[in-house]
Amino acid sequence: MTDTGQAREAREAQEAKEAREARELFGARFGGAPDGVWQAPGRANLMGEHTDYNDGYVLPFALGQGVAVAAARSADGRLALCSRQRPADGAEIALDGLAPGQVTGWAAYPAGVAWALRSGGYRVPGARIAVGSDVPEGAGLSSSAALECAVALALTDLAGLDVPRPELAGLARRAENDFVGVPSGIMDQSASLLCQPGHALLLDCRSLEASQIPFDPAQGGSRLLLINTRARHELTAGEYGRRRAECARAARLLGVPSLRYLTDDGETARLSDPVLRRRARHVVTDNARVLSVVALLRSAPGDAYPKIGALLTQAHMSLRDDFEVSWPEADVAVDAALHAGALGGRMIGGGFGGSVLALVPGGARDAVRAAVSGAFAGRSWTEPGFLEAAPSASARRL
Ligand code: GLA
Repeated sequence: MTDTGQAREAREAQEAKEAREARELFGARFGGAPDGVWQAPGRANLMGEHTDYNDGYVLPFALGQGVAVAAARSADGRLALCSRQRPADGAEIALDGLAPGQVTGWAAYPAGVAWALRSGGYRVPGARIAVGSDVPEGAGLSSSAALECAVALALTDLAGLDVPRPELAGLARRAENDFVGVPSGIMDQSASLLCQPGHALLLDCRSLEASQIPFDPAQGGSRLLLINTRARHELTAGEYGRRRAECARAARLLGVPSLRYLTDDGETARLSDPVLRRRARHVVTDNARVLSVVALLRSAPGDAYPKIGALLTQAHMSLRDDFEVSWPEADVAVDAALHAGALGGRMIGGGFGGSVLALVPGGARDAVRAAVSGAFAGRSWTEPGFLEAAPSASARRL
């Protein structure tokens, strides 16, 4: 069987297992069978970091790993929640009168989705929801967006509502921003709801125009290796909000609605504050790198990978030196991967913890893993985790 065939079989088996486990959890906690099981994937981002909230471009792809929810409608107007990952932490929430601040912990994500849908005019019913996930948490792979999107799809399906996916992504983001209180952009929810297998999603975060870009590194003989550095990533920690504020200030000082409106990094020279200048330079150059990767994938998909690899490494340097959101384990993982033959690599997501994405020639995969593990062991760091990623499908009913 081909690599792709094997990967597909493995994915289908994993999906069946997730659905079965979610149903079992539902039965054990609530009794009976759910009305259905919905799955939404986590994401990795090929290029365009901290560009989404600057109205710029991002190029994420969906992972095979995701959050599965087994759900059934209930008539009592309440959301009953349980999670395989947090068996001690169930919740029951009345939907009428629900407001931000009333729910904390993981339950705030599903509750926030119900709240955002209702605030958006969608009368979603009460429901019993059992949640299971195989997205590593705190790894910067958007386990929270996956949870939001799985719940959003389940609740709207249960209500018989057909909400256009871009709108659903916006409502899931609203749950995260206004209910949970994390000031994230639109990338993660869009990736989870809009990506297609074998493609990356080019999203223009100003117009919200989405294009599917064929992206299949395996065909070019390369692999996408995600390295979980085990340094936990927490968006609520403040630095993310600080970067957003710095970008907004830089745009104001330059007299543009957002940094997206700058196309030449020379324009950032007008900023006298060196920190704001670096922040703006990252955003301008990363937007340009997204468009370069898209052009490479469109014109020469097979030969594109060495060039894309070089762009990934440039992006890492920009995130490390200009945007200052990298962390020691990510820098060491990127260096070790490059020395062992990776075509390129960079931190992904918000930063300060989480994962590195390395683009690796098929033949160098084991050497790269060994080099990164060795570099971590040499520093007495926790053993990193490895995940081979394949651009996968968006959220769906299983
Ligand atoms: C997090 C946010 C996204 C995006 C990235 C950085 O993942 O949720 O909206 O801003 O950080 O690119």
